[in-house]
Formats: sequence, structure tokens, C-alpha cells
Amino acid sequence: MNDELLELALALRAAAEDEALRGVWGEDPTAPLPEPASAPLPEATPASGWSVLAREAREEAPSGAAALARVRDELGDCRRCGLARGRRTLVFGVGSPEADLVVIGEAPGYHEDQQGEPFVGPAGQMLDRMLENVLGLTRDQVYILNVVKCRPPNNRNPLPEEVEACRPFLLGQLRAIQPRVLLLLGSVAFRAVFSTEAGIMRSRGRWHDYDGIPTLPTFHPAYLLRKPEDKRLAFEDLKLLKARLEELRAQTPAR
Ligand code: URA
Repeated sequence: MNDELLELALALRAAAEDEALRGVWGEDPTAPLPEPASAPLPEATPASGWSVLAREAREEAPSGAAALARVRDELGDCRRCGLARGRRTLVFGVGSPEADLVVIGEAPGYHEDQQGEPFVGPAGQMLDRMLENVLGLTRDQVYILNVVKCRPPNNRNPLPEEVEACRPFLLGQLRAIQPRVLLLLGSVAFRAVFSTEAGIMRSRGRWHDYDGIPTLPTFHPAYLLRKPEDKRLAFEDLKLLKARLEELRAQTPAR
């Protein structure tokens, strides 16, 4: 009987937390979620040149803060593409070099370029809320970076050659951090990492395999600021991420 009562109390608490989280996000918790698309997704494979994170190579590679600092040193005062001309600050990344979760955005915007830290403007505040309210994580407990490290003029999407020029450094960051899980924010990050015809609308909330790292695409927080009615879909995605992280942490001890 005691066990049943405990189970009931836990279920009630989980339901209350769920509703509170949805409330924080400003949604109607009773609104039904749209049906998931039933048509099969086009294939998404790691984009050409990205598939160099084979598990064995990853495990043997030096990792942690020193390895990450070496990647930063190598990047230096980068002039490898045209974005260098317009930037004020190179925005490398922020967070824990041993994070279980790496969050990948698109490119620094105005605020990030001014402050030298990713996701510090309005989209960043939305990202902080997503991480804290759903995953219970602060930005110090994850690692946040962008596909390109310099602000594109007028916040345009990075060009393929700019993504290409930055790719070795993003890979270096991932090798140094060795995250358990990746979260890709928006279609630019998704399409930089995976070669696919599929858009973010249909790919979000579905697990992808990036050379053995479970990878979840979801909406970019800037999109959610423009389209708040889609926040509850992102909320569902982050709940999936939370469950997966918990599962992986239970399987292998903390580093
Ligand atoms: N959008 C991004 O994709 N990255 C940032 O750092 C800020 C806004």
C-alpha cells in the first residue's frame, strides 16, 4: 500500500512538474500536439567531411579543457574566410569542456559579436530558459557553440565555404569535449552536420546518429521567438533529450 501511495505521489508530482514547465513556456498544456508526419524521412547521413569522429578515434583523442584550449589556440586570430573582415569578436564557445551535452547553433549575431559569447541576445535568453526549465541545466553545465565562429554580415546564413572553413574547429571542439548527446538548433546547424534533403520541420524530434553520438535536431530559439506556438513541439523534443541523457548517464558513470 505504501508503495502504491508513493507511486501515486510521484506520478502526481511528475504531472505537476510537466504542467509547470509548459506554463513557464507559455503554452496551453491541454492543446493536442499535431500528428507526427507519417511519410518516411529522407536519409540523413553525416555531411561529407564530418564523418571523422569514429568512436575509437574519439576515445583515444586527448579530451577536456586542455584539448579544447589547443583547438582555440589553433584557431588563433582566424582569417580563413571572408567573415573575419566584418567581425568584432571571434565567438568560440562557452560552457563545460566536459559537458555531456553540446548545443550547436548557427552563427553569432550582433550581441554575440559584441560580447564574444554565443547565445547572449534574445535568442540566447530563450535558449537558457529551454535548458533550465526542461533539462534543469545551466549554460555552465553544457557546451554551447556555433557552426561558424564569426558573425555573417546582416545576420545572413553562413555560406557553404564559411561552414567548410570552420568545420575542422567544430570537429576539434567535439573531439575535445566528447559529449554524450548533441542538440542541433535549426536547419543551418542540421544541414551543416548532416547531408540531407529533409528540413527541420520534419526532422526535429527524431534521433539521428552522428558517428555514434545521438543527435537531436530541434527548432532554433530565434524561430521560437517568432513562432511561439511551436514552443510546445520544442518542449517535447527537449523532454526526449532529457530522457536520453538520463538513460546514458545511468549506463556509464560520469567522467
Ligand atoms: N543564433 C545562433 O545561432 N547563435 C548565436 O550564438 C546567437 C544566435
